[in-house]
Amino acid sequence: MKFEDFKIMATASTVPERIVDNNELSTMMPTSDDWITQRTGIKRRHVATTETTSSLCLTVATKLLAKSKLNASDIDLIVVATMSPDYLTPSVSAMVQGKLGATNAIAFDIDAACSGFVYGMHVVKQMLMANQQKNAILIGGETLSKLIDWQDRSTAVLFGDGAGGVLIRNTSAASGSFVSEKLKTLGELGDNLTAGQTGEPSPFVSDQTPRSPFFKMNGRRVYRFAVKNVPESINEALAHAGMTVEDVDCFVLHQANQRIVERIADELAVPMSKFPINIDEYGNTAAASEPILLDSCVKQQRIKRGDVIALSGFGGGCAVGTMIIKY
Ligand code: ACO
Repeated sequence: MKFEDFKIMATASTVPERIVDNNELSTMMPTSDDWITQRTGIKRRHVATTETTSSLCLTVATKLLAKSKLNASDIDLIVVATMSPDYLTPSVSAMVQGKLGATNAIAFDIDAACSGFVYGMHVVKQMLMANQQKNAILIGGETLSKLIDWQDRSTAVLFGDGAGGVLIRNTSAASGSFVSEKLKTLGELGDNLTAGQTGEPSPFVSDQTPRSPFFKMNGRRVYRFAVKNVPESINEALAHAGMTVEDVDCFVLHQANQRIVERIADELAVPMSKFPINIDEYGNTAAASEPILLDSCVKQQRIKRGDVIALSGFGGGCAVGTMIIKY
């Protein structure tokens, strides 16, 4: 059998137990449930207390094994997309591999912020289709709460923690999922969204200013980037496959802001009924947002086998990416 494609065998997700709603945030900073709901669609978010990025990802990996009835030793590849790892080394994926006992798997992380899941799927797809690996776990996992300045209302209200993932397997082209893709990076816009400046200046560095882990964002610029580039990315990915938006059953978009999703739907002239939303419950969970949404759509049977899905991520970098798949 010639392996030329991949198939998503299972989806899974998890979020921390602690819920922080907009009213609780309003007691910590000058904001309100009305402002946050109207500008973003967010009502609450899940925030890590005892959980870490690696513990959330391990939970997802364990669920994926159980759902696909595989043993840890059957896994050949583990990729975690994250912008909030526990450490720079070891990688989150190596920590998951070790704790899972997936002794036959190679593991590494990728960071493409909110596009991490789509970029990760591109990397995993290429590796599986090159026929080097058979079973892969791809997880998007974040604890963005540790990158938040809880005095800064302009970013603190936006983000949440969680993890979601897929078990992907290589398969024959006839039964595969891949349709087309379009990834693009606009590095010249990267300064508009920064977080997680790492390490301390060494004694040899002239600028001894302490480094800041916190998010800084030019929200309006990122908004403009998203509403221009995401529709372009989706249309170009579809054009590669000779398809149009009419052929797509479900648009699984990164959940950064409900207004952004509504604007993209408008640009594409597609009804909002094809754009599932869960930002009200989770906020923006960066690389975790699409796999969390995908998992809930599969659980609710809003996405069924054979459906055409447009997965589209956008954010820090500034990176954007769309993958069209047949679920
Ligand atoms: N509560 C109350 N008031 C607030 C808050 C808050 N939480 N935050 C800002 N404001 C105030 C501002 O101070 C400003 O007041 P002023 O008019 O007196 O100066 C006013 O509200 C308007 O602020 P703007 O920043 O102009 O508000 P905007 O309508 O642009 O909404 C938002 C801000 C929600 C951040 C929006 O710009 C956005 O969604 N941008 C995109 C963010 C995004 O997509 N990020 C994704 C990438 S994240 C990643 O990759 C990890």
